[in-house]
Amino acid sequence: MRAVLAFATILAAAAASPALQPEPPVHARTCSRSNKDNTLNNCIRHNIQAFIPHVKNGGKFGLPSLEPFHVPETSFDLRTGLIDFHAVMRNLTVYGLGDAVVRDAMADLGDDAMLMDVGLLLPKVSFRGMLELSGGQILELPFKGRGIFDFTFSDINATWRVVGKRQAGEEHLEVQSVTPTYTVGGMTTDIKLPDQGIPNLDRVINAVMNHYWTIMVDMGKAYVQKPISHQLRSVINTLFQNVPYDQMFPASWLAALLAGDINATWRVVGKRQAGEEHLEVQSVTPTYTVGGMTTDIKLPDQGIPNLDRVINAVMNHYWTIMVDMGKAYVQKPISHQLRSVINTLFQNVPYDQMFPA
Ligand SMILES: *[C@@H]1O[C@H](CO)[C@@H](O)[C@H](O)[C@H]1NC(C)=O
Ligand SMILES: *[C@@H]1O[C@H](CO)[C@@H](O)[C@H](O)[C@H]1NC(C)=O
Ligand SMILES: *[C@@H]1O[C@H](CO)[C@@H](O)[C@H](O)[C@H]1NC(C)=O
Repeated sequence: MRAVLAFATILAAAAASPALQPEPPVHARTCSRSNKDNTLNNCIRHNIQAFIPHVKNGGKFGLPSLEPFHVPETSFDLRTGLIDFHAVMRNLTVYGLGDAVVRDAMADLGDDAMLMDVGLLLPKVSFRGMLELSGGQILELPFKGRGIFDFTFSDINATWRVVGKRQAGEEHLEVQSVTPTYTVGGMTTDIKLPDQGIPNLDRVINAVMNHYWTIMVDMGKAYVQKPISHQLRSVINTLFQNVPYDQMFPASWLAALLAGDINATWRVVGKRQAGEEHLEVQSVTPTYTVGGMTTDIKLPDQGIPNLDRVINAVMNHYWTIMVDMGKAYVQKPISHQLRSVINTLFQNVPYDQMFPA
């Protein structure tokens, strides 16, 4: 069987368009929403990580570029008593989102509602653009200015809470909100204001902001979170509008199979003895390819601490080998079972009735 991959549908759509370059496949797995807890969460974590390189440089799957990522105009007020100003940021570009490592995922997937927390670690994220300061005051001295800025944050540990809902009768789930929360390990500010009237004002502002960077980060949360959250909602929603919810997260393994997620060929060989009414099924040989596999073994009493976690990690890493091994071991009993099931059918209906001459 060839598991047709949830995210691969977008690729298929992209490949169908002659204008687009052929895409490398997204090595995604089928994440069935009936798989609770770690199996589903690991599956989602794996797929998001596998998906990031495909959207990094943008223009694919109808999604905007992640690297860099553009944010509409936003503004903030700095009020420290030492320096106060109102800042408008334009042509804001974010660098570094493409280097995200998916820390973990926790999903609660219902038939019509989705709640997902995606944990991301970002080594470095820079916001660059144009800055206009107004209503400024430094030690009671008024100023205004215009220039460029670079705010760089390091060691970001973010959690994005994605909430979605599917209306009755709808194929697609709509993403209603994306709420990022995060902690930041450090921040540097580099503002250049060539024409601000006060000599070296930008250097003073940089020094103050670099000193009070934790305050800046807290302020940033209030001001930057809203436009970013808005942008993210639109990006993630595009993805969900491209792939039906039941295909992205099939209700069960069986549903995945029925939805065409699995591509198997069963070779059935039968023979009818002379004078017999019924055909006897002699063999059923399944062949298949698998697009993904997750292993979740729990060994509570194994003596060696975390042995099961190590085994799971190895098996999840070498899943293609596992699948190949599985073919040798699983194929025989499955083929045996299938032969018996299909044979029962042929024993119930005479061959000439099932397929008249
Ligand atoms: C906006 O930012 C991009 C990327 O940094 C830059 O190439 C472009 O020239 C900027 N546009 C304006 C109007 O400054
Ligand atoms: C990131 O934050 C989560 C949740 O707050 C925490 O459990 C985890 O240990 C943090 N990870 C790192 C690498 O800081
Ligand atoms: C299923 O597998 C067969 C044989 O390998 C192949 O010809 C066919 O294109 C596959 N179909 C899909 C939908 O992947």
